[in-house]
Amino acid sequence: MQFCNGMHRLAAVLFIALVLLCFTSANASRRKWRSLHQTAFGEADGQMECGRQFHDIQSKWLQSKLVLRALNWQIIESASASHRFNLTIVVHSVLKTGGSKSGPRLRISNGSRIMVGEFSGALSRRQRSRQRQQCTPSRLRSNDKGYIFFLKPTLDPTYFKHSFLPIKFRSRRLRKFDRVSCGRRNRCPKAPWIVKAIPQGVTPHKGSREVSMRFVCGARGEPAPIVRWLKNGANLVLDDRVRAQMKKRSHGIVSRLTIRPVKLTDAGNYTCVFTNLQGSVNTTFEIGVAEILNAERQLFRKDREMPAYVCDSANKTHCQNGGTCVINNFDGKPHCVCPRYFTGYICEKIDIY
Ligand SMILES: *[C@@H]1O[C@H](CO)[C@@H](O)[C@H](O)[C@H]1NC(C)=O
Ligand SMILES: *[C@@H]1O[C@H](CO)[C@@H](O)[C@H](O)[C@H]1NC(C)=O
Ligand SMILES: *[C@@H]1O[C@H](CO)[C@@H](O)[C@H](O)[C@H]1NC(C)=O
Ligand SMILES: *[C@@H]1O[C@H](CO)[C@@H](O)[C@H](O)[C@H]1NC(C)=O
Ligand SMILES: *[C@@H]1O[C@H](CO)[C@@H](O)[C@H](O)[C@H]1NC(C)=O
Repeated sequence: MQFCNGMHRLAAVLFIALVLLCFTSANASRRKWRSLHQTAFGEADGQMECGRQFHDIQSKWLQSKLVLRALNWQIIESASASHRFNLTIVVHSVLKTGGSKSGPRLRISNGSRIMVGEFSGALSRRQRSRQRQQCTPSRLRSNDKGYIFFLKPTLDPTYFKHSFLPIKFRSRRLRKFDRVSCGRRNRCPKAPWIVKAIPQGVTPHKGSREVSMRFVCGARGEPAPIVRWLKNGANLVLDDRVRAQMKKRSHGIVSRLTIRPVKLTDAGNYTCVFTNLQGSVNTTFEIGVAEILNAERQLFRKDREMPAYVCDSANKTHCQNGGTCVINNFDGKPHCVCPRYFTGYICEKIDIY
């Protein structure tokens, strides 16, 4: 009898483990590639909030002196028509306090009522896109579990400014804080490190007369890093032809860069840079003109057309400033592929932008 009970329990445990396993692997496969957007300033994927580069939940936690959960809040409207408002909140639990060792410890405990500001609401639809940049939240909707507030102290011990927008409380968010809090599980913030760097290289694209180029790189870190791409050391401009995507992994991120169709001017050094609050790491893929020409040649060999080739000694000196001379497929004339900082028909112009 004892034995049977034991077996039942074991079976139940195995069953639960199996269900959990299925659930997590289904979850993992659901993570899809998302487009990565880069602005001229290099922040990737809408990572700016309140002028900060890192606004993932763990970085918010690291950057805030005080993090707490509140179930009840009340809006204190200002008398003026500025649409600014403060909130009074009742602290449900303190998730992080202190921060700096030199400063006085914040005396906040469960149940205390504090004032949090200064928020701005009542924005028009047009203003809403700017709202994120300005660190002004929309109004908090009531919910059962409350919100997590990221705060910094002011001189007034009962008044705090928000360092990031409040977010809805979910218990799995607490587990994320655990990962960077150097707590029980001994997880501490760590600078990113590369776990994957695959130059899939330049290849004729299947089923088309185009050459494509792809690089995949991935890194881990605590908190998970953000990624951006550079070409020859400058921020890579993305468009319909040059596309970057990313996928979140546990504690990390994988990004792939795809260029299609490839032009000779795409030759150069491509760098993926991973950054979190702790530091930065990068890896570079180098693509030469020869590799692109080679892939094009494979394509044209199939089609029995004139291949492109690097100029012979007769016109080696055709290009200035170290540009590579190539004979074009279509007109049979020499063209120049210019190195970094040079442009123009024979790379005669300096391009400092
Ligand atoms: C919010 O509270 C602070 C501190 O009491 C105060 O200085 C500020 O004017 C308040 N803002 C609004 C919009 O009421
Ligand atoms: C505050 O509330 C949290 C969650 O309810 C609880 O875990 C914690 O022990 C409380 N702290 C104090 C000092 O009562
Ligand atoms: C790419 O990197 C290699 C090796 O560091 C360097 O020799 C080459 O000049 C670089 N190419 C460009 C276009 O910057
Ligand atoms: C890439 O890493 C190298 C070596 O750590 C560093 O010297 C360089 O500045 C980094 N480049 C970028 C763009 O972060
Ligand atoms: C380069 O070589 C091509 C083919 O041999 C020739 O037609 C062209 O005139 C040459 N151009 C220069 C600038 O030497």
